[in-house]
Amino acid sequence: VALPANTRRILLTGFMGAGKSTVGRALATRLGWAFLDLDHHIEQRTQATIPSLFADLGEPKFRRIESTALASALCMSNIVIALGGGVPEIHTNRLLIEQAPGTLTVFLDAPFPVLFDRCVLQALDRPVLQDPSAAQARFQSRLPHYRRLARVIQQTEDLTPPETVDAVLRTL
Ligand code: S3P
Repeated sequence: VALPANTRRILLTGFMGAGKSTVGRALATRLGWAFLDLDHHIEQRTQATIPSLFADLGEPKFRRIESTALASALCMSNIVIALGGGVPEIHTNRLLIEQAPGTLTVFLDAPFPVLFDRCVLQALDRPVLQDPSAAQARFQSRLPHYRRLARVIQQTEDLTPPETVDAVLRTL
């Protein structure tokens, strides 16, 4: 696989249900790179689950922990990183991503109803999905940020995760 010169890391962005973790893990395998799931990294560092961090600390404090985790992830090389869906919502996170040399960002896109259906079975693990109309509003407000950060925008609506990996690799 020929990546653009000097690419050190690939970030996967998109809303919950986009397939960031599944696609990211498979993409890393194909590249022979490491894989990091930012939510999982936060859970390991805090010894707490994402829902419990939301419940116990509140979303603003969760976002600060997430920003710290993002900054350390952006120091890693030869790695595919699945970001949490809310990372691009924060202005300073967007600056960090834009300014980290060698970072190639892929936006995994799908219409909101498709994402919502994919997540329904896991809704308890996702505090942000508890209120569907609020989640849809967040999706809309995040879209321009997902798009602007992305070097590649990959539609996932009609693709399985392995097909998505193939499509991303063809586009890079
Ligand atoms: C969130 C997405 C989740 C997780 C948290 C908040 C969001 O990550 O960080 O529940 O605000 O969209 P995934 O996108 O990996 O599910």
